[in-house]
Amino acid sequence: MSNTRNFVIFAHIDHGKSTLADRFLELTHSVEARKMQEQYLDSMELERERGITIKMQPVTMKYDMGGANYTLNLIDTPGHVDFSYEVSRALAAVEGGILLVDATSGVQAQTVAHLTIAVEQGLTIIPAINKVDLPQARPDEVEAEIIDLLISLGSEPDVIHRISAKTGEGVEALLQEVIRRVPAPSGDPTAHLRALIFDSTYDDYRGVISYIRVMDGTLTVRDRIMFMVSGTASEAKDVGVFSPQFVSTGELPAGSIGYVVGGVKDIEVARIGDTITHNEEPLRASEAIAGYRQPQSVVFSTIFPESEHDYNDFADALAKLKLSDASLHFEPESSDALGRGMKIGFLGMLHMEIILERLRREYNLELVVTAPSVAYHVTLTSGETRTITGPAQFPDPGQIQLTEEPWAHVAILVPPGYMNNAMSLLKNLRGAYKDTEYLGSDRVSIHYEVPLADIISDFYDNLKSVTSGFGSMLYEVVGYRPEDIVKLDILLAGDKVEALSRLVPRANAEREGRRLAEKIRDTIPAEQFAVAIQAMVGGSIVARETRSAMRKHVTGNLYGGDVTRKMKLLEKQKKGKKRLKSMGRVNLEPDVLMKLFR
Ligand code: GTP
Repeated sequence: MSNTRNFVIFAHIDHGKSTLADRFLELTHSVEARKMQEQYLDSMELERERGITIKMQPVTMKYDMGGANYTLNLIDTPGHVDFSYEVSRALAAVEGGILLVDATSGVQAQTVAHLTIAVEQGLTIIPAINKVDLPQARPDEVEAEIIDLLISLGSEPDVIHRISAKTGEGVEALLQEVIRRVPAPSGDPTAHLRALIFDSTYDDYRGVISYIRVMDGTLTVRDRIMFMVSGTASEAKDVGVFSPQFVSTGELPAGSIGYVVGGVKDIEVARIGDTITHNEEPLRASEAIAGYRQPQSVVFSTIFPESEHDYNDFADALAKLKLSDASLHFEPESSDALGRGMKIGFLGMLHMEIILERLRREYNLELVVTAPSVAYHVTLTSGETRTITGPAQFPDPGQIQLTEEPWAHVAILVPPGYMNNAMSLLKNLRGAYKDTEYLGSDRVSIHYEVPLADIISDFYDNLKSVTSGFGSMLYEVVGYRPEDIVKLDILLAGDKVEALSRLVPRANAEREGRRLAEKIRDTIPAEQFAVAIQAMVGGSIVARETRSAMRKHVTGNLYGGDVTRKMKLLEKQKKGKKRLKSMGRVNLEPDVLMKLFR
């Protein structure tokens, strides 16, 4: 293993991880030139389109330096706050990391968060400033930021590389530095087997394929294995490495990174962070690798297929997505008005967006999405405590003794010049200021405690806009505190629209009702009649707006023989009528609903 190096690239979203990984793949001839396409490791269509890494993709590369052959295992990691736990497990699987910082935007919150974990775990950090080819690059300032940051974390910076992942400048020198400075993996290949699962995927024929780092011992094909956290016994049907496609090797000794087809169909038994050992008693490791955590849903929404007929397809699609995503939780929830749907728990808003987008694209489903909610704790007068994840489950106010909501620690990272803007945004939240920490001279970290509900929807977008894109944030749920929560209902033309109901603090109900009513007025398409928009709490109306009627009949301006166009319009109206039935008299398309939740 002395010629093996295991490393990650960690960086904030868009700082160039995937592009740098592409250059490494080229340098090491890991992907045939004709198969090379941009951001090779971002293999999902959605990832390539949005330019974000959702699923991490490890790769094993071979590189010759000074006549010696090296095996380089690179794990690309997702940069977004929703996936922090996955990143922490990837960091536990390696000895070193490239800290990649964009030469134009500098250090960001996510980078600091990952770096902190990396330094705590004793990883060797190799800093690199990317995108130096850009005219607006400011590498000297960014270098000073990185040095300050590393010192504040108790890690001494060595050389700070300057590269362009786009043009390839400085990339080979960086790779050679990884070989020189990142230690070879330790671990005794003859000890009891302990392999850390840091990710997984699903194959229709082979079932769950776990991505592992073998810490101790050796995993050999056909070994009897055991998933220690879930306590499930099975057999290693195949083991191998990522090249980047799966290549069987028959054996993975301590120090290596690869995959195992563990003969299980259910991802719940082979979760990220679990440890694989041998099943037979004398060979079984006594302790699992530390750091395992249950996936935690943070945001919940009840989602309905637009047409009742699609319910089974919708349920099947979710079950399929779940096969490769253990963090996705769902259970059936019905509504009188909207029919059969699923209550889904997500890791955060980005996770939610990704799942919805995949349901629409890969499974062709039209969906009605209800307002995202956090999980509230409600104590009833009977003494019973319930976890409530949406307005539909909210008990009758007469039965409620106490409502509590989740609170989070938030760290906002901004350049000092944007501190006031960020502060005024934070002041609108119900939170409390904790303290401010200077990370060098170019970054301030503002710490706040806020109700989670205040930051899950559009807070991050607002922060980006008041800080010209430089601000970033991280949050962690820290516990529950009492808050008087009520259900805010919306009536359109006198009918309650369940999809628009939400849970809000009583003190904010009127303001929230007014804001929502105005937003609905400006968002919904005009009907052939004026629509009254009312916000209601308990029995009383807290806000009222009117959407005026449309001026012309839908086919009124079509004259003469354009029959097909007229048919199309009538067809559309008919479809609208179908939905009219479920939504009351006002027609709300799913995209209109999604706009209302933003
Ligand atoms: P996530 O997957 O979202 O975490 O982003 P990432 O860090 O993988 O970034 P990605 O490689 O997708 O790069 C983001 C954007 O920056 C893309 O448009 C790249 O083409 C561009 N980019 C990356 N490296 C460079 C560089 O060295 N110079 C220039 N000019 N652009 C770059």
